[in-house]
Amino acid sequence: MTTGQLIIVDHVVALLGVAAWSATGATAGARRARLALGLLAASVLVTLARVVTVAMLAGRGWWFVQEKVLFGLPMLGAAGLAAVLIAGPRLLAARRAPGAGSAAGPAPGNGVPASCVVLLLTAGYAALAGLVVTFLVGYPLTWSTALIASSLVGAATLLTARVVAAPVDPTGGADIAPTPSTQGRPGLSRRRFISFAGGGAVAASTGTTGLGLLLIPAESAATGGGTGRSSSSTGVSVADLRGADVPAPGGTRRQYVLTAQTTTVRLPSGREIHAWTYNGQVPGPPITATEGDLIEVTLRNTDIDDGVTVHWHGYDVACGEDGVPGVTQDVVAPGEEFVYRFRAEQVGTYWYHTHQASHRAVRRGLYGTLVVTPRGEQIDEAGASVEQVDLTLPVHTFDGTVVIADQDGRTDHTAPAGTPVRLRLINTDSGPHRFALAGTPFRVAAVDGRDLHQPGEVSDTGLRLPAGGRHDLVFVMPDTPVALVLDNDHAGGLRLRPDDRAGTVGADTAVEDTSGWPVLDLLRYGTPAAVPFDARSRADRHFTMVLDRGVAMVDGRPTYAQTVNGRGHPSIPDQLVAEGDLVRFTVLNRSLETHPWHLHGHPVLILARNGTPSSGSPLWVDTFDVSPGEVWEVAFRATNPGIWMNHCHNLPHADQGMMLRLCYDGFTTPFHGSHTAREAGTARSRRHRH
Ligand code: C2O
Ligand code: CU
Repeated sequence: MTTGQLIIVDHVVALLGVAAWSATGATAGARRARLALGLLAASVLVTLARVVTVAMLAGRGWWFVQEKVLFGLPMLGAAGLAAVLIAGPRLLAARRAPGAGSAAGPAPGNGVPASCVVLLLTAGYAALAGLVVTFLVGYPLTWSTALIASSLVGAATLLTARVVAAPVDPTGGADIAPTPSTQGRPGLSRRRFISFAGGGAVAASTGTTGLGLLLIPAESAATGGGTGRSSSSTGVSVADLRGADVPAPGGTRRQYVLTAQTTTVRLPSGREIHAWTYNGQVPGPPITATEGDLIEVTLRNTDIDDGVTVHWHGYDVACGEDGVPGVTQDVVAPGEEFVYRFRAEQVGTYWYHTHQASHRAVRRGLYGTLVVTPRGEQIDEAGASVEQVDLTLPVHTFDGTVVIADQDGRTDHTAPAGTPVRLRLINTDSGPHRFALAGTPFRVAAVDGRDLHQPGEVSDTGLRLPAGGRHDLVFVMPDTPVALVLDNDHAGGLRLRPDDRAGTVGADTAVEDTSGWPVLDLLRYGTPAAVPFDARSRADRHFTMVLDRGVAMVDGRPTYAQTVNGRGHPSIPDQLVAEGDLVRFTVLNRSLETHPWHLHGHPVLILARNGTPSSGSPLWVDTFDVSPGEVWEVAFRATNPGIWMNHCHNLPHADQGMMLRLCYDGFTTPFHGSHTAREAGTARSRRHRH
């Protein structure tokens, strides 16, 4: 069973526990002793099953069970044990008593004592508290969480005791059967005292926790086991970290102007979308260069009220060119402009997108592609130019309409048989996409722009691209059609036909069913090669990021957030590194959603997934999908100084808190503002149009 499945099973068993204990209490309260006894047995079984699921989950990692082992299970165990030991015998006795459970109602003195009902319901509350703590708080468990949750269970117990009108002593449990003496005045005032005390405890712990949430001390940074911030008073501003402004020898200057504007775009199918665009088109203009060229992009904003930037996804530009508003630059408001300049030193397939309110703005169309080809690629060994079919295929979804490059519906291309073909797949959406290439064997030559080592030929194999990810597929065009199928939609996608003048070959051949194909595991694809460091290397800094959902502050507001180590942006401590450090990340997912993890400015080397080392080609990526229950180990060398975003590339998740910063010691930013641009949080926020 995968850890993700185990997490679900554990949630289900926990929920069954809540239901079983509550039902036991309710039936006991209804004097149905026989039924209550059966349910009590079921509750005990479910609770034991829970111990098993938690133990199994613990085997996958402490992060998955901490709050269950330290809080949920002990509390449920104690309440359940008390209920079994005290209420169990009473239920047995009540069942034997004549008249029990009959429609005529309980015979006085032979019913189930109210205290038993309270105890059984308390076990239900304890089970519920454990589940609620898991869903609202998760990892790490704090004292205030444990305190508030146990006080709430105590309060619920007291309230129940009052409602069922029986005096109960929750600490000793000795005062089981109501007797006349405890129903008199002294008993009443004691109940009142307990109620007040319980209420006071709840109020106090709620207050403490609430205050704690609001006034979390501004933690400077996590150091990952390395040294803290150096005390040098003068930091280098990231605004001064700019790219080269001349091409490498032999290179040229490639100038582009990107004008952000709202536009109604008419897709080939005739469908119109109200898009936010660069230059009135989706995707924005393709930016291409040859290795060593200088890329110079002037960004202007016409009418995007949120403001815009350009972030070069996967391209390790100098920090001042990274396009993160509030960190590396000010957001570009309507009427303003910003010039990006950097050398095309990395070859491969990349993309660009705005980083302002990106959950909204990228989805609406503020994205485009960046492709850099090697110098002299078009020349073969003999020095002759090689014709190649090279297609850049960003996939984007506009309100349910899938657009590949600039086409919705199906895209058709031709390629002469025997031609080398390169398909550059780019996932610009916030969730993963599954691709299948039918009709030819192929290789995955590159992932996230970086070439793989000896990628083998594969066929009948699907590909899964995380949000933001890229795969370059290469093959030689056969003399039969080839189909690129996206998410098993055989009506759409891309068809490549051998170039035949008569137009008859492969006219409209049906594409085989690709839905059952296994997905290529990149951690076992290609062959190993030398890497500058590996899983055995001692990292200078090691950061663990536990991804989950929970209640947390995000941009100054409490919300049901997407969290990292229990917190949301910007309350997640910065990760501090020093230039030259070998940095290791452990990224794991406790939630039921996939999180495409993305670090700006550095490719990371995948070391292992779920404890299994990567055994294929060295795999350098800028985004990796952390599926529910997965634990990834990655590492990188800190060689690109600055302040870098480190976030989930499911952009709504980033907006809901799943984002933090990796900061090089000694670097500062002069820019301000929450760059996620929740309207209330931005300096330049404006009313945005719909
Ligand atoms: Cu492609 Cu911070 O993102
Ligand atoms: Cu996410």
